[in-house]
Amino acid sequence: MEPLTKLIQTANYPIVFTGAGMSTESGLPDFRSKDRGLWEKFNPTELANVQALYHNKEEFTEFYQYRLSTLNKYEPHKGHLILADWEKRGIIKGIITQNVDAFHHDAGNENVMELHGSFRTFHCHECKKEFDRDDYFAGQSTCECGGTIRPGIVLFGEQLPQDTFQRAEEEAAKADLFIVFGSSLTVSPANMFPLVAKERGAKLVIVNREPTDYDRYADLVIQDKSIKEVLVEVAKQL
Ligand code: APR
Repeated sequence: MEPLTKLIQTANYPIVFTGAGMSTESGLPDFRSKDRGLWEKFNPTELANVQALYHNKEEFTEFYQYRLSTLNKYEPHKGHLILADWEKRGIIKGIITQNVDAFHHDAGNENVMELHGSFRTFHCHECKKEFDRDDYFAGQSTCECGGTIRPGIVLFGEQLPQDTFQRAEEEAAKADLFIVFGSSLTVSPANMFPLVAKERGAKLVIVNREPTDYDRYADLVIQDKSIKEVLVEVAKQL
């Protein structure tokens, strides 16, 4: 029996927290995996940064059209579908995610807190006019007002959506089991949620291929199996 299965079966309010590692088995690169993360190829401070909208517009648009092209190619994997099934059956109560791929939403989860926004919407950075994702992908990057069109994600240097952040804080505080799937837990303030849960007595589980600075606080760390393998195995035992 997977030790994680036991923890899920005895918990009343399990909350899942996901990072880019949740979507690598869909084909999407994560950010910091050794020699394959996105930040090994691109410089986040130059591109995923609100300043880039003004000083680096062409590269900014190229980068996000590239990211959108990878998103359009891939889809949620079995692990995402298992989490959606678990929410429907009340096995988990919600998902706090740093991911902007909207794969939890596409898989059918409802209580999803997208801390960093998502690629579902695009808007003009100046006048906030909404734009269609396909038009952006087709190359439309400037609004009639002259502003730059950008994805509805949180760029470095920007505030997280306060209402989503609030809800995530409430959910993490209610959790008696907090399961991290696929995050290096290096980016704040998102990386505070595992401790918000832990400090209120929740059990903390970290399923991540590489060690994180939060492993020392975890009740269970799973590094020897991929996220999809863990979810498929536990789903068989639940
Ligand atoms: N199974 C288990 N672990 C995996 C798998 C997998 N299939 N694939 C990747 N991982 C692990 C990697 O070892 C890595 O430690 O997932 C972790 C992903 O960490 P990051 O790439 O840092 O992604 P994340 O933690 O989501 O980054 C947070 O940083 O750039 C910003 O806004 C961006 O939301 C992102 C934030």
